[in-house]
Amino acid sequence: MSEFVTQSIESGIQYICLNRVEKKNAITLEMYQALTQALQSAQNNAEIKASMIYGAGPDFSSGNDINEFLQIAQTPDKMEAIMAFLQMLTRYQKPLIAGVEGRAVGVGATMLLHCDMVVASRHAKLQFPFVQLGLVPEAASSHLLPQLVGHQKAFEILILGDFVESDEAKNMGLINHLCEPGEAFQVAQRYVERVAALPMEAVALSKDLLKHRAQDDVQMALMREGRIFKDRLKSKEAYQAFASFLSRNK
Ligand code: COA
Repeated sequence: MSEFVTQSIESGIQYICLNRVEKKNAITLEMYQALTQALQSAQNNAEIKASMIYGAGPDFSSGNDINEFLQIAQTPDKMEAIMAFLQMLTRYQKPLIAGVEGRAVGVGATMLLHCDMVVASRHAKLQFPFVQLGLVPEAASSHLLPQLVGHQKAFEILILGDFVESDEAKNMGLINHLCEPGEAFQVAQRYVERVAALPMEAVALSKDLLKHRAQDDVQMALMREGRIFKDRLKSKEAYQAFASFLSRNK
């Protein structure tokens, strides 16, 4: 595993924790690798019936580490770790349930589109600030969000990049259940336990039936977005946006 992605397994359930609280659980390349490994190992482990992902501390995740975006722009091959995670996430065959406290930004928000259930605190907020950063949507969000909410709303969310409040995200169908702040882990855990208690093969086959039709489109969107995203990381617009965020903190 990694210092910042921890895993535990209890009663056939894998708990994956984004645990880099001081950086709002911003995800580094090493963390993507650990996340990929965690899902891969659960996929191969017949004892694991379902997975749950959550963030340590008050926020789910602030998305990709912006310092590392600058490194990836210099060495585009490093983006493979991100693509490998997205491939694994979109092809994961077991149920994956998210418990979301606080903010879920960038890939912290787009990964929720691939979870089978999302439980979030009433104080949760989602943000997809790709264009503000000079980038383009990723994780097949350019395909999945318009499907979920229609073009106009998807345009607003993905291009303006404002925070989407939890109740709006629930109305959009992106969140299953809202809970009181501080309770997302427990409530999500109740759902993952219920799912894990069901006949495992029937659950996996049913998930596959639900996702099957969209799978080709999702994979094509991932590839299309990935190509453009890689180029955009090297753009002047992105460089200026990263520099502006990083200097804001000094
Ligand atoms: N990458 C790298 N560092 C990040 C980060 C990210 N995505 N998000 C937060 N951090 C760091 C901050 O630089 C700060 O570090 P410092 O304490 O060393 O200065 C620390 O985490 C706390 O963040 P801060 O911005 O002070 O917290 P906040 O509560 O005011 O705001 C966010 C939280 C998530 C709204 C804000 O940090 C943010 O917008 N982050 C960037 C999100 C983003 O654009 N992600 C990429 C999407 S593609």
